[in-house]
Formats: sequence, structure tokens, C-alpha cells
Amino acid sequence: MDLEDTLLMMPGPVPVAPRVLRAMSKPMINHRSAEFAGIYTDCREILADVFQTKNDIFLLSGSGTAGMEAAVGSVAGNGDKVIAIENGKFGQRFKDLAALYAEVVPLEFEWGLSVDLEKVKEKLEEGAKAITLVHNETSAGIMNPAAEIGKLAKKHDALFIMDGITSLGGDVVKVDEWGVDIAIVGSQKCIAAPPGMAAVSVSEKAFEAMNGMKKRLYYNDLKAYKKSGDKPKPETPYTPAIPLFYALQEALHIVKEEGMEARIRRHRALSEAVRTAAGAMNIEMFPQLNEYSQYSNTVTAMKSPAGINGEDIKNDMKKRGVIIAGGQEHLKSKIFRIGSMGNTTPRDVLSTIQQLEIVLKKRGYIDSVGAGTEAATCIIDRL
Ligand SMILES: Cc1ncc(COP(=O)(O)O)c(C=O)c1O
Repeated sequence: MDLEDTLLMMPGPVPVAPRVLRAMSKPMINHRSAEFAGIYTDCREILADVFQTKNDIFLLSGSGTAGMEAAVGSVAGNGDKVIAIENGKFGQRFKDLAALYAEVVPLEFEWGLSVDLEKVKEKLEEGAKAITLVHNETSAGIMNPAAEIGKLAKKHDALFIMDGITSLGGDVVKVDEWGVDIAIVGSQKCIAAPPGMAAVSVSEKAFEAMNGMKKRLYYNDLKAYKKSGDKPKPETPYTPAIPLFYALQEALHIVKEEGMEARIRRHRALSEAVRTAAGAMNIEMFPQLNEYSQYSNTVTAMKSPAGINGEDIKNDMKKRGVIIAGGQEHLKSKIFRIGSMGNTTPRDVLSTIQQLEIVLKKRGYIDSVGAGTEAATCIIDRL
């Protein structure tokens, strides 16, 4: 397989622009220097717009999970209760992570089902130091009601920790307005940088909670990030992944050049195009929505059509040069997922849909190709 000729349509990593790749080949610099401080500051300023926040933002050299661990481990310790909302693989990860540091109060929903806000309210009424939510649950293709949960958390004085790993940079996220105390994004998703970096925003209230902690994380301690980040020449506590910083800065410049409004519009239109095409091919969406949830605008999770294994669809697509994702854990083979995040173009989506039609026709699920592409085009042409 020629990697340079492969269309990556996964929910991360996503293709990165040639100028982002080139940025990584620049010479190394002293990470305690004005040059590094300039890059860090530039990234933080652009991310403030992506996050819609005035909170501090830190850049961790580590994937999204490092950011999730930093968030929970920095504010919650022995005996602290953390409510962990789960309706997919990454909600489960937050729960497992929280259990390592605190007393976890699981709030589990079947993967792909919507979060029941009444149950969230009930748990919060029992008292908790923090509540975790995955905003865009990538494993199930569902967008969870972050604004509503933020309101409830505030009312019950719990810190709101939100994984925005596959929503920030691609869809509407309002950290300050929604009262998100700690929000996390991963570099390899909507921002379209290489994998290996996480950005984390932290509110004053979250910093105050850190002050009372007896045991601290070491490597990903957000208090240490604050101390280094507040220096006149901002830096990170330990040696950062400098090539990834270069790449992230370049990727963020692309985000800024497009503008967040246009970027969100594009993400929304492209995912709607995938959903509409799926409908035209008789493929059902996987998530079950309620009045508060939505389909994800960055990844589309679809049920495998009757009689076809989702893994076969994924493998057939790969043979045709398009990399999509299957289901995770018990959803393996039952669903398949198409990412449309990062710098994905209408042409990328149309090529993917065309190949999917060919795969489904060859497997006998549809009689002819064209309906999906036609349906997707109608949405895309509105852009
Ligand atoms: C919603 C969500 N949270 C967390 C993660 C984990 O991020 P990483 O693989 O960068 O550690 C992912 C990765 O796909 C994700 O989609």
C-alpha cells in the first residue's frame, strides 16, 4: 500500500498538510528560550479562540489520554468522588482513569445511547468533587450535551472535566460559556497536526482544587504546567516534543487562516453529507439520540448493514485505498465509522462515499452505485 496515496478517513490520526510535515524538519531549539516561548505563546493564543476561553491553556507532550490523566489526576485524589459519565469507549477510559486516582462514581449508559440528564442530576445531588464527560464520543459517533452538564455541574459545585478531543477545532465548543473547568483536545484530530500532543485548558476553580491535593502527579501535573507557563518566557516543566510543537503551530495557523466559523461549517456539512449518503444507501446511524444529544459532526458511526460484517467493509475500503474505522470492543464488526475531521475536503468525502458504494454493491447490499454520492453532493454543494 502506498501510504502517500492513501485516503485517511479515520477519526484520527488525520492527514496533515505538507507544510505541517515540513515544519517538523526545522532545527531543534533550546526549550528554555525566547524562541520556544514565542511558539508556545502563539499556539496558546490560537487555541484560546478554538476553546473559546480566557482560561490558561497548556500544551502537553503526550496524546489525548495524557491530557485526560493530567486533568483527573491533578484535581482528584484519595477519597474524592468523581462522577464518570460513560456512553462509549472513551467515557469508559475516563472512568478507568478516575478510578486510579479517586473514588469513581460510574454513570454508565449503553454505548451509543444518549446520556440521561435526570440521572446526571441525581448523581450530582449526592455530591462529587468532579464530573467527567466525553463531549464527542468518537467510538459511538454521538455528541453529548456538554452545555447542559456544565450547568448542572456548576449548580452542584462540581468541577466539570470535558474530553473535547474530537470536537475542539471542528465543532462548537464554548469552554467559558459552558463552565468547563478542564477541557482537553488531542493534536491528531480536528486540528490536523500529527499525534502526540494534548492541549488542556484549566479554570481558576480547578487550580484552587489542586491546592488542596496531598498527593500530586509528577509528569503531567497541571500545577507544574501553570508554574512554568506563567513565567515571563513561558515554557513547559520538562523537555517538550519540539518537532511536534513546530507542527502544531503550523497546523494552528491553518486553523486560524480558515477561521473557526468556516471550519465548523465545513465539518458540519461534511458529516451531514456522510449521514445523508448513508441514508440514501439504507444504512442506519448507530447512535440513538434524545432531545439533548446530536450526531457527531466529526465522525459518523453507522450500523453494519444486515448480513455484512463491519470489519469486511473496513478491509474492502482499505484495499480500495481508503482507511476508515471499525467498531471498538463489543462494537467490533457491528458498526463502522468514517471520520471527516481536520482538513478533510468535500472531494475526500465524495471519494469515500463512492468507494463505499462500490464495496456495498460488490457485497450485494445495494443494486447500483450513485445514490449515496448524489445525496452527499447535494449537501456538499451548499458549502
Ligand atoms: C473522544 C476521545 N477521547 C480520548 C481519545 C484518546 O486519545 P489518544 O489516543 O490521543 O490518547 C480519543 C482517541 O481516539 C478520543 O476519540
